[in-house]
Amino acid sequence: MNIGLLGGAFDPFHKGHESLIKGALDSGIVDVVIVIPSGRNPFKPGRTMSAAPYRFYMTKEAVEKDFKGKKVFVSDIEFMYSGTSFTLTTIKEISKVSYIRAFLKSNGIKESAAEENHDFFWITGSDVLPTFEKWHEADKILGLADLLVASRPGDGVDIDEQITRLEGVFGFRPDIKTFDIKGVEAASSKMRDDNDFDKTPDSVKEFIKTHDLYNMRRVLSYVSDGTAEDFYEYSIKLYRYLGEKRLLHTLNVGLLSCKYAHIYDPALCDRALIAGVLHDCAKELDDSMQQSMAYEHSGDMFEDKKLWHSPAGAVMAEREFGVHDPEILDAITYHTTGRGNMTLLDKIVYLADKLEPARTYADLSKDRELAVTDIDAALALCIERVKKKFESRGMSIHPLTIDFMNDIGL
Ligand SMILES: [Fe+2]
Ligand SMILES: [Fe+2]
Repeated sequence: MNIGLLGGAFDPFHKGHESLIKGALDSGIVDVVIVIPSGRNPFKPGRTMSAAPYRFYMTKEAVEKDFKGKKVFVSDIEFMYSGTSFTLTTIKEISKVSYIRAFLKSNGIKESAAEENHDFFWITGSDVLPTFEKWHEADKILGLADLLVASRPGDGVDIDEQITRLEGVFGFRPDIKTFDIKGVEAASSKMRDDNDFDKTPDSVKEFIKTHDLYNMRRVLSYVSDGTAEDFYEYSIKLYRYLGEKRLLHTLNVGLLSCKYAHIYDPALCDRALIAGVLHDCAKELDDSMQQSMAYEHSGDMFEDKKLWHSPAGAVMAEREFGVHDPEILDAITYHTTGRGNMTLLDKIVYLADKLEPARTYADLSKDRELAVTDIDAALALCIERVKKKFESRGMSIHPLTIDFMNDIGL
């Protein structure tokens, strides 16, 4: 089969991307399009980019809805290899026979078609041609995939002229095919700057709203470069351990914790981001593993199965993510129960876990309002709700939570 590959940040995925995909399919040059959201960008993200799992799931939801029944799929290949996501590496990895065959079959392509030899086409806009030789190992890219270039009316790029120019640069004539698309003027950066997402599919609008995506990520400007990089890296690493919903929840908790820290003690922002983003890291490990890690950490202090992931999370944060700061590890350990004499960091993570933007278990508007003005009052409101839930279900309250409630005055 002829397989078109469309890479990009997709921050957000918008109608311009949709028009590229549609144009490539309609051209008949490719049978399938695989959309590849970027993992580790070769250019420093500079904290202007949404963490990779947000962009991946936002793109996946839009593609699955808007290209339903069409051969358009989204790949997480850039999360699967370590190191920087260069186009060349991505094409090498995705075109491995074992990967591409399994990927196509898992997306419903018939076995006989999936097991053919495939040709790959890198889909891009014509605007890249005048500087294409500056791409990392551009000549090698052309050895693995042809370029499939979208040509827009009036885009001002003479493609034949560019092919001849690139032939002069590389010493061989690149295989470049073109297809026409209708001009959809859409630029992700402008959408973010203007906070106007009109030119995105409905599912993307919904996703941005649910996670308050482009407001929340601004908090990354409160942390050091190293912590921002850790946040991006952990977000990719967590993809291996958590399903969509919990991964996005835990990223939201990291960002909201950082926002609260900035209000109550800006010196805590870095630690709040890390504690928040890792607080549920152990929650989808299998039960026996959670239990043994919890026991290793705190003996039988956390007997209830639902609590294991908190101390186990501290063990995992240290072992898998290299976090050794005891305050961060404590905030992870006590995020479900609370404890007596909660530190400000404990309180921040506890509250952010309950109030992150995607949480809808109750009307949280009052809690959210209080959380940015009076953290103890917000905690009191949250813990009161927890107490009522336990009482109505006849469940006993953990001694650590009782200590926490006594401190709050409940
Ligand atoms: Fe949790
Ligand atoms: Fe959580």
